[in-house]
Amino acid sequence: MSAPALQLVDLHKSFGVTPIIRGVSLDVALGERHAIIGPNGAGKSTLFHLISGRFPATSGKVLLKGGDITGLPPYLINRRGLSRSFQVTNIFPRLSVFENIRCGVLWSLGYRYSFWHLIERLRDARERAESILEQINLAARRDVQAGLLSYAEQRALEIGITIAGGADVIMLDEPTAGMNRSETEHAVELIRRVSEGKTLVVVEHDMSVVFDLADRISVLVYGQVIASDTPERIRANPAVREAYLGTAASLEHADA
Ligand SMILES: Nc1ncnc2c1ncn2[C@@H]1O[C@H](COP(=O)(O)OP(=O)(O)OP(=O)(O)O)[C@@H](O)[C@H]1O
Ligand SMILES: [Mg+2]
Repeated sequence: MSAPALQLVDLHKSFGVTPIIRGVSLDVALGERHAIIGPNGAGKSTLFHLISGRFPATSGKVLLKGGDITGLPPYLINRRGLSRSFQVTNIFPRLSVFENIRCGVLWSLGYRYSFWHLIERLRDARERAESILEQINLAARRDVQAGLLSYAEQRALEIGITIAGGADVIMLDEPTAGMNRSETEHAVELIRRVSEGKTLVVVEHDMSVVFDLADRISVLVYGQVIASDTPERIRANPAVREAYLGTAASLEHADA
């Protein structure tokens, strides 16, 4: 049996004396779409930072496809096939849409190539970037400055940059935050498309998105996973319902 895409083993993270992640263990299977939900400040983004190497863990381990990536810098983790987006939109606003995607492609190719390789690589990168533009429905906006796109388009572009390097484990932090219903529906369709055949880990507050997209859901409360299960069982889980007391109705109507 092949190793899970992602394994978190008793991860801890403190800022100063304040514990933020308090012993998270979690497996995400290859090809699974996994959602992480939880109240504001639960530590969801921090968990993403620990996995992607932005912050070092205080203790514990992170394994990517069976290989230990604990303590590796973000670019090496990226090169092993994990790519993540940020909660706050992260694009190059002065570059065109196409250039943004091409940066993502080139960056993932590394710096190991000679000049002649580079010329060849640039052609590959252009073709790859064009195909990603199609996937994220921004081909018609190819030459527009990224900073001039609508908010929803910028978030789509960000997803394009995230997948540009060809990573097979993709992590998105609140990809539909701040979107209206129809923008959200488009974003979900896009996420489903670009994560086809890959492993997806997504932090999301919108329960209809979570229940629509996820094969499994983990609930993070105050730095601990209180449940990790299928959407149906998460919905029925009393501890989850208690943690989401105010939003029990949103769990109820998540697939409406
Ligand atoms: N660099 C930091 N230094 C100190 N404390 C931090 C740092 N980053 C996050 N925190 C604290 O860690 C806790 C968890 O923050 P985090 O951003 O991970 O939560 P979250 O679950 O992503 O919340 P949200 O749903 O609002 O995005 C918060 O109390 C936050 O203030
Ligand atoms: Mg967050």
